[in-house]
Amino acid sequence: PGSLLTVANLPIEEVAKVLALADELEALPAKEKSQKLSGRRVALLFYESSTRTRTSFELAAKSLGATTTLVSDKSSSIEKGESLKDTGLTLKALGAEAIILRHNSGGAPMLLARMTGLPVLNAGDGMHQHPSQALLDLRTILQRLGKPTHTVTETTLTGTTVVITGDIRHSRVARSNAMLLPRLGAKVILCGPPELLPEEAHTLHPTLEIARDFDAALKNADVTMMLRIQSERLANLKLDLPDYIARFQLNQDRLAACKPGMVVLHPGPMIRGLEIAGEVADGPQSAIEQQVTNGLHIRAALLVRALHEGAK
Ligand code: CP
Repeated sequence: PGSLLTVANLPIEEVAKVLALADELEALPAKEKSQKLSGRRVALLFYESSTRTRTSFELAAKSLGATTTLVSDKSSSIEKGESLKDTGLTLKALGAEAIILRHNSGGAPMLLARMTGLPVLNAGDGMHQHPSQALLDLRTILQRLGKPTHTVTETTLTGTTVVITGDIRHSRVARSNAMLLPRLGAKVILCGPPELLPEEAHTLHPTLEIARDFDAALKNADVTMMLRIQSERLANLKLDLPDYIARFQLNQDRLAACKPGMVVLHPGPMIRGLEIAGEVADGPQSAIEQQVTNGLHIRAALLVRALHEGAK
């Protein structure tokens, strides 16, 4: 109880509860907020590098009054060969009441939750899932489209087209969004060159569409989410970058041809000049910094959910 491992089995009512809790916590005065998890202990266990997810979970936990500790694969006994199970049990023996895990293997958060019995928040596992990112993306989309942020139903995003573009094959962010947004009524189009599209798109959601032509896909888009090419996961795949930029970069010319006010998202880290032009990232249609800030509120809600429900 209290874990968030994937969006796949997350009921819409639970999504709505997290959103409502995020609104509630954001509105609280700092002093009252710092009582919510006062004295509770949260461990951050990171086997892959992170800026946004790690920092926002840590700052969110601290804003709620919790104590945090970071264990990274680079500076811990993981380097000496200690297993995920023994690392998790060690953190538990030290008093951790919840673990936030980023891991390079899909499914690791499920194993950790089973092995420790603690609530585990998946902070990104391999190419599998990044559920807190999908929830903060959802909050950002609702805000930018002027929809209520405290609740969602199966029809909240009916009539909204979201185009996710770039290295979808290696992206846990794309997988989580592609599973969650259609369940709220959105039409989701996955766009990229064939070698960066997933083989299992139909298993993520039956209504997902695939597009190879970015300009055509953008025509009716209300939201576009740009993704970084994950060179660390490409193995032997060699991309023709000038060709990729010509066909798939979101630049000012492409933006000008889109619906006015189309919302631009990027989970970060972004490579300016590759998948997105700097002036688009910094422009008024970009919600990239808002996504980062929403990370604080959504992750605060997930921590309260984990530690209140997890303790039951
Ligand atoms: N979006 C995201 O997961 O960013 P980090 O890798 O910096 O945490």
